Amino acid sequence: MNILENRPRLKEEVYKVAEVAGYLWQKGWAERNGGNITVNVTEWVDDEIRVLPPISERQPIGAVLPHLKGCYFYCKGTNKRMRDLARCPMDNGSIIRICDDCASYEIIADQPVRPTSELPSHLSVHNYLISKGSPYKASVHTHPIELVAMSHSPKFLEKDVATKLLWSMIPETKAFCPRGLGIVPYTLPGSVELADATIAELDDYDVVMWEKHGVFAVDVDVMATFDQVDVLNKSALIYIAAKNMGFEPQGMSEAQMREMSVAFNLPK
Ligand code: 13P
Ligand code: ZN
Repeated sequence: MNILENRPRLKEEVYKVAEVAGYLWQKGWAERNGGNITVNVTEWVDDEIRVLPPISERQPIGAVLPHLKGCYFYCKGTNKRMRDLARCPMDNGSIIRICDDCASYEIIADQPVRPTSELPSHLSVHNYLISKGSPYKASVHTHPIELVAMSHSPKFLEKDVATKLLWSMIPETKAFCPRGLGIVPYTLPGSVELADATIAELDDYDVVMWEKHGVFAVDVDVMATFDQVDVLNKSALIYIAAKNMGFEPQGMSEAQMREMSVAFNLPK
């Protein structure tokens, strides 16, 4: 089947994922199957989709997520490559339906591609976003080289140390990632503990660093989510470029940061 046929809005969302998957590969952030993306596509699902029979067995999510009852998600497949997803999103990902028990899901299209191993984190986060009435629909986990490198230094794992440094590298970073970078201490990939720790940080941040692993980010759609990670990693690159030139970058001053926040009506 081809669920995207004659459904231009659903197709647009899935192809935005494909476009971002290509960027992740080009940036070197998506080695092998690295990273995953999920998008809540429920608003583009019609009655015909709602009665589609499942094409997989029911699978447990590993958590009970009451706000996801009857929701639909496009998910990258586990072990699938971003560079392949960029060309063929429906061969390297699938659309799932959350079952009425709110604790399991079934695949409905196009093929039985098993969702990402980070599904517990992604779905727990979507459940949290809905509970808050958030307009955010997309979550992206990726391995941005320079940000991950910074997470190997204990000083950057202290609350808001990395955020303040990254904001001070170039004015745009605070403007386009105004909530900064949250930190989750190293936790086993794919675990419910990682999901819970991520949600705790999303109260205050849109982008969260998973220590020595990658980042997890949320926003209204997959493109906006990618942008937040991209601006943060750009700042990390500027920091590293200065260090490579043999000096500690000065960073924008507190006064310059305050001036920016007032001028652009930014938080904190
Ligand atoms: P998946 O291939 O299961 O999506 O895993 C990739 C990854 O980055 C795990 O953290
Ligand atoms: Zn990962």
